[in-house]
Amino acid sequence: VTHRPPETENPNLKTGEVEVRVTKYDILNTSMPLPFQLDEYSPVSEDVRLKYRYLDLRRTEMQRNILFRSRLYKVVRDYFYEKGFVEVETPILTKSTPEGARDFLVPSRLNPGTFYALPQSPQLFKQILMIAGFDKYFQIARCFRDEDLRANRQPEFTQIDVEMSFITPDDLFEIIEGMMYRIYKEMLGVEIETPFPRMPYKDALLHYGNDKPDLRFDMQIQDVTEVFSSGSEFKVFNETIEEGGRIRGLVAPGCASYSRRQLDDLTAFVIQYGVGGLAWFKVEQEDKLTSPIAKFFSSETLRHLTQKMHAVPDDLILLVADKNEKNILDALSNLRLHLGKELGLIDERQVKLCWIVDFPLLEWNDKEERWDPAHHPFTSPVPEDIPLLDTEPGKVRAIAYDLVLNGEEIGGGSIRIHQQEVQEKVFRAIGITPEKAKEKFGFLLEALRMGAPPHGGIAFGFDRIMMLLCGEESIRDVIAFPKTQSGICPMTSAPSTVDEQQLRELYIKLIGFPRK
Ligand code: AMO
Ligand code: AMP
Repeated sequence: VTHRPPETENPNLKTGEVEVRVTKYDILNTSMPLPFQLDEYSPVSEDVRLKYRYLDLRRTEMQRNILFRSRLYKVVRDYFYEKGFVEVETPILTKSTPEGARDFLVPSRLNPGTFYALPQSPQLFKQILMIAGFDKYFQIARCFRDEDLRANRQPEFTQIDVEMSFITPDDLFEIIEGMMYRIYKEMLGVEIETPFPRMPYKDALLHYGNDKPDLRFDMQIQDVTEVFSSGSEFKVFNETIEEGGRIRGLVAPGCASYSRRQLDDLTAFVIQYGVGGLAWFKVEQEDKLTSPIAKFFSSETLRHLTQKMHAVPDDLILLVADKNEKNILDALSNLRLHLGKELGLIDERQVKLCWIVDFPLLEWNDKEERWDPAHHPFTSPVPEDIPLLDTEPGKVRAIAYDLVLNGEEIGGGSIRIHQQEVQEKVFRAIGITPEKAKEKFGFLLEALRMGAPPHGGIAFGFDRIMMLLCGEESIRDVIAFPKTQSGICPMTSAPSTVDEQQLRELYIKLIGFPRK
């Protein structure tokens, strides 16, 4: 390596002062023309990027993400080792561990006609480890779930999995807040505030419309049913209230100047979530609102509305009336996020973490007409609610918590059931017969009868934390070899067909299936 001749130096390049003088060379390998230019990344489709992932991974951004990921493993491991946790690997070839998705199955050659399931999480094994006397466990664990994929979901993904014996939720929150503090400090040099705020599940739904509120901006959903409960000339509201529905809405600050077109777009936006429409009012003065439906309300009612919603002149009030609670929540939570983005209310540098607590234990499944666990079936009910399992299952509270970061659920966990009778009772409440319970979870029920300590834990989506720390929109950009939206690896072409011979060894015969 020598200096360049003075007039040929390029101050714009890091290496602009030097050049390599070749005296002798061997060709180690040659390269064919690349299918895409590594420095012109944007026009390349994701399928092509994933097919040639080894080229895609050479790009600066991907190198940065993968190196970042490697450092994050170390930060997390160091933290848990320092706190006295034991790292234990749990099996990949195992029995179904239900987390609400479909299982991936692996046929057993040695035991014809039987199947392993890939774990949806290490849930049952970590509970078994507590019974085995390892009272502080963690693992950076691979999990497998056959579910519809999205930007933040992969069929195989990584969890930071944690379990502890003899703990309360407060003990766990402290450990995890310490972990998040350490991650932000070491990875981004940011000192986040602890402890994190806690929000009851009910409040999250009421004020933000979902259980993963983005707290980087305010604009809360407000319930104004009571404002219209004494009746008006507007049929939609009257009928909704008579049928037991609610009227809820948002105040969009400074949006009174929205055009008809913009308002129509907002209406179309909410209608896709199943509500009947969007009522809007432009605030001129406290009791002077501009709207095609303003004429149906007294100025008394309109003043009451603006006051109740804390709206000021130049604001836009948006209301949705519906008798279906889920429709209202879907419409308004999405409208809130849509407006937050559109109005630039979200400060991307903020870190807003929040525990969601006080979940219900069970959720009614309309389609199957039964109670389903809101988390998983091993979550402990609040002890004094246990008798309600027989009478009002919907009222039973869970000792469960989720951690939400900037509107994304990054982790969830609970205190577990550690008594076999309670576990059997919960199985019964969700329609798992004693025979089925024995067949699927007999080993757990038996283990619970041999001195199981009280225990609890949590698991984090490692890929989701990575995505948020790196400011990426998709977890595919923080995983070295991810799958596409349709569960395919374009590089290896997995999944693929197998030889007749392999199937025969497994005693498997393919029957007709829809061809793609
Ligand atoms: P849960 O099912 O809530 O809990 O999963 C924990 C966290 O894992 C992440 N996650 C995913 N990330 C990427 N792709 C997926 N398909 C995917 N599914 C889940 C989420 C989620 O918050 N055993 C329990 C935990 C416990 O109770 O301790 C469990 O797995 O960030
Ligand atoms: P219509 O009576 O259908 O002409 O609707 C009058 C106005 O009320 C329109 O702006 C609709 O978008 C709005 N609207 C209709 N249904 C609802 C609803 N369920 N909630 C809120 N606004 C509605």
